[in-house]
Amino acid sequence: MSLTTPPLSLYVHLPWCVRKCPYCDFNSHEGRGALPFDTYIDALLADLDYDLPLAWGRNVHSVFFGGGTPSLFPPEYIDRFLQQASSRLRFVPGCEITLETNPGTAEHGRFELYRQAGVNRLSFGIQSFDDGCLKRLGRIHDSGEAEAAVKLAQDAGFDNFNLDLMYALPQQTLAMAEHDLELAFALQPTHVSHYQLTLEPNTVFAARPPQGIPDDDASWDMQEHCQGLLAAAGYAQYEVSAYAQPGRQCLHNLNYWQYGDYLGIGAGAHGKLTLGAEQTVLRRWKTKHPTQYLVQAGHAGAIGGDDRVEPARRPFEYMLNALRLVEGFSLAAFEARTGLARSAIAAQLDAATAQGWLEVDGDRVRPTELGRRFTNDVVELFLVDDGSDDANVDPAGPNLAQRVMVDHAK
Ligand SMILES: C[S@@+](CC[C@H](N)C(=O)[O-])C[C@H]1O[C@@H](n2cnc3c(N)ncnc32)[C@H](O)[C@@H]1O
Ligand code: SF4
Repeated sequence: MSLTTPPLSLYVHLPWCVRKCPYCDFNSHEGRGALPFDTYIDALLADLDYDLPLAWGRNVHSVFFGGGTPSLFPPEYIDRFLQQASSRLRFVPGCEITLETNPGTAEHGRFELYRQAGVNRLSFGIQSFDDGCLKRLGRIHDSGEAEAAVKLAQDAGFDNFNLDLMYALPQQTLAMAEHDLELAFALQPTHVSHYQLTLEPNTVFAARPPQGIPDDDASWDMQEHCQGLLAAAGYAQYEVSAYAQPGRQCLHNLNYWQYGDYLGIGAGAHGKLTLGAEQTVLRRWKTKHPTQYLVQAGHAGAIGGDDRVEPARRPFEYMLNALRLVEGFSLAAFEARTGLARSAIAAQLDAATAQGWLEVDGDRVRPTELGRRFTNDVVELFLVDDGSDDANVDPAGPNLAQRVMVDHAK
């Protein structure tokens, strides 16, 4: 079995926000004073040049500007980056180019320019349309501003956009969660990401949990009801937290979940590349802090770490991604993307099937509803102790469960 090169995406991390939200553990920093937009774009391009030998001659299928708050960057900087990047790597026709947008940063006239720069998809961090919830979440926008931002984007011709909503919020009832979805549907997004609020270590919320977070049963009820509402409104669930109209799945995130390749450019960004000649999978991540990144980008000092994914570890990594998908994966794709024969996972597949967690139908392996509820247990079946000494590895690198969540909330 040999590794086959999968589609390549480009992730670009823009690390600043107006204000740090108390629940957020992304690599995002409150921007004080004038932000160094110009030098950061220079740093991104130097970073891209440094990584280019890993991706010579390959086409880019999607680009994602994530953060942080990418919409803090005025359009001319996004334009400069895209022009320069597309002169180094070939973007396929129709390449999906997404920009994360905080409604509190929307300005009249900007969306047209993002579109002219090549951005063809937006992802709005709405979280809720309830002003009390937004306040408790420490958001910089209210519901009126959220609606106004989406309408500005629609007027500028964006017809493909995602709304990020969170549920199980402090003091949120089932009716409030449902109402958030109804208001979302009225804006006709093509995609909805529906995340359960989690208390992440090292956040303000973890240190001082807010009052009134719904318990597990109430959160589960919200998830089930909301899933039903989403389906009835034409948004089919295709991943744990992702729902889309037909043909409007996020291609960039799908590529992660299908164990595709991605270059990760920017402070703290993670990349994963299949190196055909060496028959290996390389993970590379960049130094996290923006100040250090600005100085080091383009040099070895900006590399937070490199990690070659040994064959024994690939089934676990593959499952961590693919089992998030409602449609699961094909055994042929598993073989092509891990370089391993399907027999390498036959025993684990049997065990998971016996537990009622997975269904195998010819070449296709799908998680059952039970399996989707217990993804961690299912994925753990594929974990082998490879004897690696975790103490010597950068925590941003091997903590895969965490990193996959981070990648995938993008
Ligand atoms: C990197 S943020 C980017 C969006 C943009 N910065 C904003 O917040 O407007 C991506 C999404 O992850 C989700 N998210 C962040 N922290 C979370 C948490 N602790 N629990 C659940 N979802 C979270 C939010 O819905 C957020 O919009
Ligand atoms: S949730 Fe979004 S806006 Fe808030 S700190 Fe995190 S990245 Fe920034």
